[in-house]
Amino acid sequence: MRTDKELKELWIKFFENHGFKRISSSSIIPENDATVLFTTAGMHPLVPYLLGEKHPSGEKIFNVQRCIRTTDIDEVGDDSHLTCFEMLGNWTLGACNKEEMIKLSYEFLTSEEYLNIPKERLAVSVFKGDDVAPRDEEAAKAWRDCGIDQVFYLSNNWWALAGGVGPCGPDSEMFYDTGKPKCCDECSPDCDCGKYLEIWNDVFMQYKVENAGEKAQKLERPNIDTGMGLERTVCVLNGEKSVYDYGVRRKIIDFIEQHAERKYLENDSTKKSYRIITDHLRSATFVIGDENGVVPSNVQQGYILRRFIRRAVNCARNIGLDTKYFLDIADMYVDEHGEDYSDIASNRQKVKDELMTEVEKFAKALEGGHKEFEKVIFGIEKHKEFAAKNGEVVENIISGKAAFRLYDTFGFPVELTIELAKEKGYEVDVKGYEQAFAEHQEKSRVASAGTFKGGLADTSNESAKLHTATHIMLAGLRKMFGTDVYQKGSNITPERLRFDFNLDHKMTPEELAELEAFVNDVISKDIEVVCQEMSIDEARNSGALGVFSSKYGENVKVYTIGDVSKEICGGPHAKRTSDLHHFKIMKEESSSSGVRRIKAILD
Ligand code: ALA
Repeated sequence: MRTDKELKELWIKFFENHGFKRISSSSIIPENDATVLFTTAGMHPLVPYLLGEKHPSGEKIFNVQRCIRTTDIDEVGDDSHLTCFEMLGNWTLGACNKEEMIKLSYEFLTSEEYLNIPKERLAVSVFKGDDVAPRDEEAAKAWRDCGIDQVFYLSNNWWALAGGVGPCGPDSEMFYDTGKPKCCDECSPDCDCGKYLEIWNDVFMQYKVENAGEKAQKLERPNIDTGMGLERTVCVLNGEKSVYDYGVRRKIIDFIEQHAERKYLENDSTKKSYRIITDHLRSATFVIGDENGVVPSNVQQGYILRRFIRRAVNCARNIGLDTKYFLDIADMYVDEHGEDYSDIASNRQKVKDELMTEVEKFAKALEGGHKEFEKVIFGIEKHKEFAAKNGEVVENIISGKAAFRLYDTFGFPVELTIELAKEKGYEVDVKGYEQAFAEHQEKSRVASAGTFKGGLADTSNESAKLHTATHIMLAGLRKMFGTDVYQKGSNITPERLRFDFNLDHKMTPEELAELEAFVNDVISKDIEVVCQEMSIDEARNSGALGVFSSKYGENVKVYTIGDVSKEICGGPHAKRTSDLHHFKIMKEESSSSGVRRIKAILD
């Protein structure tokens, strides 16, 4: 049986044998990219290189990347959707030789040494063509030359980043043909009858979009980006029906079954609950345990994390599982992934503490919800009494709006409202609830689309300056408080930097003023920011500060700002310090025990 681990090993062996260099998985929380909340594909951390910047490991690279995707969060619970997954990826930077990549893909899929899929069992799709880009005959021909007969021209074979900005282009997807009969004459990988299951995607990044909604422009240096969803592919190759039915996820489902009141396959609802708990707690473990980890909150990644945990709590209630078992589940995930992602291993206790803190907070919020529920019923009862005096009848119905408010404000799941209502002889206007819910979703969709409005070019320019400011600030902190001050986390949006570092006290106003003056002094000296590539050992020996652990002997970039700062860093950065104009600290606060957080802007 092929496991996730075995497929990763085959991937690594194949691309190493074909002259590609392995690079590390990036953080699941993008460090200097404000266009997305999470790393959603292996190519995400590579955007600057896909747009033309030189990669220190060369033009042919590959990796295994941890990802979070929430676009299909409502599908989680079916056989194939996961919010947390690993993606096998490889890249050719600065060239787009479709024929070569398609041959490589064919070899990996069919060769006995690798996936050994009979070629009759393969089907592929290529871009059908539209106003933006022509039909991809080149890809179709390359597949036919390999001996693949099932080539489909489809219109949605176009790949772009969430948000619609950045590198993009036509893609060619590869499918495993299960051998099921065609569902109709037009049966293709486009329909979801289950005959064709996707395993790999080669994206030919020949274009870029600078601002959302604009027409694509040709990239001067095109690239190839490929991605294979690890869990889905292992599932398909093993003939498993679901990604939840093998490996660590199956182990967790079995574990839950030992402790829950209701069985996994009792009905659709219990099955879905088991799977949501299994998926969402994995996401929570990756998000809290990450080197840039966040904790539950009401904004950005923290909000999504909160949603993962609270949804898992609701599902636990549905199947009668005590939430204390979440700790064992988190442990099982740390055991499974700690070897590949050392930050998760070293944050084991933090993951468990934050999980439990949030579970308790949610329990408190629910208490508030119970009180509010009683108020709603009390209100209706009063209304009934009053109406009765006028000979009118008020039905025992909780309005959709009230049910939605219970959910939105108190995290009260509608199922719980329905259950409690039933006990009191009430019903809930579920249709009205769904309508209120949909309206709210539309509002937040529009709001989150706003995250992308700056456009990638603009974003990366502003981010680069803040990034340089971050390096100077760290140098200042180390000068003021000693060289055992280190970066503990960094997050940059086009508007501000946020930087976490270890320090044993709250900074005084004088210290803040001193730090600000230090950074502004470096800015006014107009120092050039120099980037050099070297091996990780050379970088360490040169005295560069290392923030990221690089595991595969790859080359790194070292950014030097005169004699002020020298750090290993992926960039991008400003060209000269004077580009930063003026640095201003907005806030200094506690981030966690022994860790301070500074928010600052450039104006
Ligand atoms: N980046 C491509 C994908 O996500 C490979 O499918």
